[in-house]
Amino acid sequence: MILLNPGPVNVSPRVTAALARGDLCHREPEFSDLLDSVCTKLVRAFAPDADWVAVPLTGSGTLALEAAVSSAVTPGRKLLVVVNGVYGERIREMAEAHAIEVVSLACAWTERPDPQAIARALAADPAIEVVALVHHETTTGLVNPVQEVGRVVRDAGRVLLVDSISGLAGDPIELDAWGVGICVGVANKCVQGLPGIGFVLARRSEMERMAALPQRTVYLHLPRHHAAHARRSVAFTAAVQILYALDEALSELLEETVAARVERYARAAGQLRAGFEALGLEMLLPEPLRSSSITSLRLPGGVVYETLHDRLKAEGFVIYEGQGALGREIFRVANMGALQRSDFERFLGALARAIG
Ligand SMILES: Cc1ncc(COP(=O)(O)O)c(C=O)c1O
Repeated sequence: MILLNPGPVNVSPRVTAALARGDLCHREPEFSDLLDSVCTKLVRAFAPDADWVAVPLTGSGTLALEAAVSSAVTPGRKLLVVVNGVYGERIREMAEAHAIEVVSLACAWTERPDPQAIARALAADPAIEVVALVHHETTTGLVNPVQEVGRVVRDAGRVLLVDSISGLAGDPIELDAWGVGICVGVANKCVQGLPGIGFVLARRSEMERMAALPQRTVYLHLPRHHAAHARRSVAFTAAVQILYALDEALSELLEETVAARVERYARAAGQLRAGFEALGLEMLLPEPLRSSSITSLRLPGGVVYETLHDRLKAEGFVIYEGQGALGREIFRVANMGALQRSDFERFLGALARAIG
């Protein structure tokens, strides 16, 4: 089955084989070596040449994101959340669940936020400590302006927290240079590992700042995990085999290089989009806003999503439905994972038959 949903993705045989490296207790030195290896590779891939730390966490991306959100804001201060899709909304929901006061800056789901509006909001409210932004809004496939927002957040002396769960290794992001303080990712999207591990990358100074704050939860308190990792251990039982797979996926990523992976995805998206245009399908976003890994398309007149999905699945392809307010209007095609040009060619043929 070719997975054209935005994760979990098809992985290489090498990553699948890593699952069988064997049984291992998470309190043994071999596990400490695995943990070190994963953390080192994460920093090498996403924040090379800078003083950053990586914290892998057992759970999906949401768990890692909630750990970052609930650990990052000093009691009595606020989180500004930029909302232009389901995942921005989810960050707001997380903050509210942890009784963190939120300032929302919403814009249309098909538009980028204005960094100057963020600058004005920060100038107007000194209680805002952290700004949260989704790098790649998976809801639509829109890439938010992390670099520009990073500049205004840095100029205002605040912290930028980025959800790059569907962005890291799929679209360009330079964590250190763009002024990101904390960034959240996951194993099973553009990193091409298996589901079950999320991770947080943070400047070391940010991790130290968070360590001085009172903990809001037990499992999600990020500095607790980092402190355990610094002792070459884990706070709680880890998903050992999924970490084996992530370790292998990160080796593959470093061999391919992050820049080449991003280019490969951009080429795949270009191939798909040329095919969509040839089929007369309408894309939701204008070209400059689109990511390299997801295309949102309007459902053609008279086509019901479920029928389209089932016809394509019968030919071996899984597509993804629209989310939230766009649920009935669009469908999504992702090009994440260990896929080839020929897979996309065959998919375009199946799509032509499904809508024809
Ligand atoms: C941008 C973004 N944030 C958060 C999540 C949630 O991740 P998970 O489903 O792994 O919990 C996703 C999942 O698609 C996402 O794309």
